[in-house]
Amino acid sequence: MAYSLKTFCEDARAELKQDTGPEARERIAQHLEKLLVDPDFVATHLGPDKRSGAETIYADPDFDFRVMAHTNRGASNNTPHCHGPSWVIYGMAMNHVEMTEWKREDDGSVDGHADLSVERKYFLNEGEAHVYNEGVIHSLNRPLETRLVRVTGCDLNQTLRYRYDPAKNAVKVLEPVG
Ligand SMILES: [Fe+2]
Repeated sequence: MAYSLKTFCEDARAELKQDTGPEARERIAQHLEKLLVDPDFVATHLGPDKRSGAETIYADPDFDFRVMAHTNRGASNNTPHCHGPSWVIYGMAMNHVEMTEWKREDDGSVDGHADLSVERKYFLNEGEAHVYNEGVIHSLNRPLETRLVRVTGCDLNQTLRYRYDPAKNAVKVLEPVG
């Protein structure tokens, strides 16, 4: 059955109206999995005409969550990071990514220093969505081109973010963009 961006946003709002915690996010991820496989949604927001980049396709006026469509036309990877105060849900609409979740081993008392170890690695496959609660450190390796949808708890450009370099035991705080 067809499932639209509008219906997804209504379903996400209904979940957040009841509860804004981790359990609601898991239910939102289940709704997102229906959207990821909707051909009309994918054609409109993640079609072959799209260039690499991210587009915010919905911003909620009441709960402040965002829906972002990401097109990556080539292979790429990123370094471990977390989104500070925001939870995020990643959903794969095309191909897969290799996800790594990291554990911080130090107590954060030394500025710029961070010891990370790999907590788990798994594939996030086409059609699957996964929740990353506040502070969960993750990195994505994209061996193929990808299309993904990201739902964020707020506007990430307005929040501090943290980027880690495990080889140098370093962490950098990224200031809000806007
Ligand atoms: Fe992320």
